[in-house]
Amino acid sequence: MKAIVVKKHGDVDQMEVQDLQAPAPQDGDLLVAVKAAGVNFADVLSRLGIYKAAPKPPFVPGIEVAGVVEAFGGGVTGFAKGDRVMGFCTFGGYAERVVLPAAYAMKVPQDMTFNEAAAFPVQYLTAYHGLIQLGHVRQRDTVLVHAAAGGVGIACLQILNAVGAKVYATVSTEVKGKVVLEECPRARIVNYAVEDFAAAIRAETGGRGVDVVMDSVGGDTFKRSWGLLAPFGRHILFGAAAAVRPGAIARLGALWRLRRMLLVSPLAMIDRNRTLSAFNLYHLPDRADLMDEAVRALLDLRSKGVVKPRVGLSLPLEKASEAHRRMQDRQTVGKVVLTL
Ligand SMILES: NC(=O)c1ccc[n+]([C@@H]2O[C@H](COP(=O)([O-])OP(=O)(O)OC[C@H]3O[C@@H](n4cnc5c(N)ncnc54)[C@H](OP(=O)(O)O)[C@@H]3O)[C@@H](O)[C@H]2O)c1
Repeated sequence: MKAIVVKKHGDVDQMEVQDLQAPAPQDGDLLVAVKAAGVNFADVLSRLGIYKAAPKPPFVPGIEVAGVVEAFGGGVTGFAKGDRVMGFCTFGGYAERVVLPAAYAMKVPQDMTFNEAAAFPVQYLTAYHGLIQLGHVRQRDTVLVHAAAGGVGIACLQILNAVGAKVYATVSTEVKGKVVLEECPRARIVNYAVEDFAAAIRAETGGRGVDVVMDSVGGDTFKRSWGLLAPFGRHILFGAAAAVRPGAIARLGALWRLRRMLLVSPLAMIDRNRTLSAFNLYHLPDRADLMDEAVRALLDLRSKGVVKPRVGLSLPLEKASEAHRRMQDRQTVGKVVLTL
């Protein structure tokens, strides 16, 4: 089968198309013929060598796919050959075939395309778990969403439309600001390339700050957002994009850019009733109750038209390097999908 292989950690030229043997499903697995693969920022981090859960090179990146069940291992119930499925996998998604643990898979609704399905599981489960299950967002809350025009960012905005909370959305360009307003007209856009996001939000909230922060950036952004948290505030940390710079990367440089995150004082958290939550979506299927609740709620929101993945870029599998280049250089909006 055709697959994209990361030969060594490094820049996008370390990825190439290779012909590999298809994987075999074990107990509890589905073998899926991939029709579309979601590109996630975690794939970029994996290629660069700064994503802890990633295998050592050579490896096939890709943690999210949509496709058709071709076969399954023992003990699988609820799925049949020919089912259209979507879900997240433990790497191997940038390929014609992948093994998808049944616990991480869900059926694709009839009116959903494969492209849309490859844009759904990771982004929307991340947004829902962060905002609702950890952040307990309510209508009265003010929420700060970083990287708001990105895949997870737009999923957050759509969920927040349903909740009715007040939204501050950070972006790095005017074009991204326009995309955010299309998704969430009530949002106050903060273009951090032209204004200091923390100073602007502090001034506009009369010094109170925000109730919830959705933080996928970390580093200095973490520190300044943490400082904006109102009493009873919840800071949801789920990424470290600050580690990345355009082009190649050194692991030491990445750690250096994240160093300022180490300054949280647990005692000060008590004093100001602040909460810090952090999560990796990979572990969500370990809590089947939370996973089921999130999937049900999201599919319901989608059927009502409240949430809808926005695929900003769709490229053939062979162009995975270009997809990574654009994501790493912050040139993408919404979801990036590779098609097969
Ligand atoms: N913990 C989890 O389970 C989990 C699951 C899914 C995603 N995530 C995290 O959530 C974030 C969003 O993921 P995504 O796949 O939807 O990607 P994305 O938001 O579509 O793309 C990343 C965005 O991050 C922003 N960014 C800020 N600093 C950056 C930097 N130094 N280098 C590159 N981009 C930077 C950019 O937006 P601006 O130009 O507007 O700043 C960029 O467009 C990522 O950090 C990802 O690792 C975590």
